[in-house]
Amino acid sequence: MQQPLPVSVRRLQSEDIDQVVAIEKEAFSPLWVSSPFRRDQNNNRACYLVACFDEEISPEEILAENDLDQQAELDNERPPNLWSRVAGRLGFSSNNGETGSADEAFNIAGYVSVWYQGEEAHITEIAVKETLRGRGVGELLLIGSLKAAIEYGSKVMTLEARVSNFIAHRMYQKYSFKSVGIRKAYYSDNREDAVIMTTSPIDTEEYQGLFTELQSTYKSRWGRMDIEC
Ligand SMILES: CC(C)(COP(=O)(O)OP(=O)(O)OC[C@H]1O[C@@H](n2cnc3c(N)ncnc32)[C@H](O)[C@@H]1OP(=O)(O)O)[C@@H](O)C(=O)NCCC(=O)NCCS
Repeated sequence: MQQPLPVSVRRLQSEDIDQVVAIEKEAFSPLWVSSPFRRDQNNNRACYLVACFDEEISPEEILAENDLDQQAELDNERPPNLWSRVAGRLGFSSNNGETGSADEAFNIAGYVSVWYQGEEAHITEIAVKETLRGRGVGELLLIGSLKAAIEYGSKVMTLEARVSNFIAHRMYQKYSFKSVGIRKAYYSDNREDAVIMTTSPIDTEEYQGLFTELQSTYKSRWGRMDIEC
């Protein structure tokens, strides 16, 4: 079973943008036209959320943790802790000091961007750092964006996803998004079709009941659900 990550969801801040753009390029394509994070940061019709680690992690801290944990593993004393696992999976090494430069420090695990258009909250992008996927971060961002949309007064949440993006479809279906149409050749890179997905009205008691239940399941599974938006 995957271990939980100590991440919280909050609004994007200027200092997050470089990391968010790197995650965006990794998830979509190096040639992807980046979202206007900086321009729209204070636009009240846009909502950018990030999932970030609780503490700023410097490479030195990661390397120090890694050293301790590698030694402990060798001594068979205790299992590696979270930071050494994350650092290890990201390629930080404590053996020769050649990897783990300042550039590799990070505290952002993923982001979601939402546009409010009339009664719709439209997810334009959601992505998690590749090495951290499958550990509840994407779902936490989706919960955060739904909460923000409900608070904003949106009636439904919508998005487009590649027809082949089975993982994203599954995540959205869990939150009751349904396919309502196809946009032919929507993606310019390979002319892949997009499926249009939408929730039922999110401002109803029925949806709020389901949403509350999903949030409590999330919390029991991952041990925390920190969202401040
Ligand atoms: C889609 C994405 C954001 C999901 O983030 P994640 O942190 O890996 O997802 P989570 O661990 O929170 O999982 C949430 C749900 O997604 C689905 N999911 C995640 N990984 C999956 C996998 N390997 N296989 C099938 N379903 C999967 C499941 O429904 C899962 O819920 P469950 O654990 O109860 O089954 C992530 O895969 C990503 O960044 N992909 C690249 C960018 C992208 O495609 N964005 C979507 C554009 S529409």
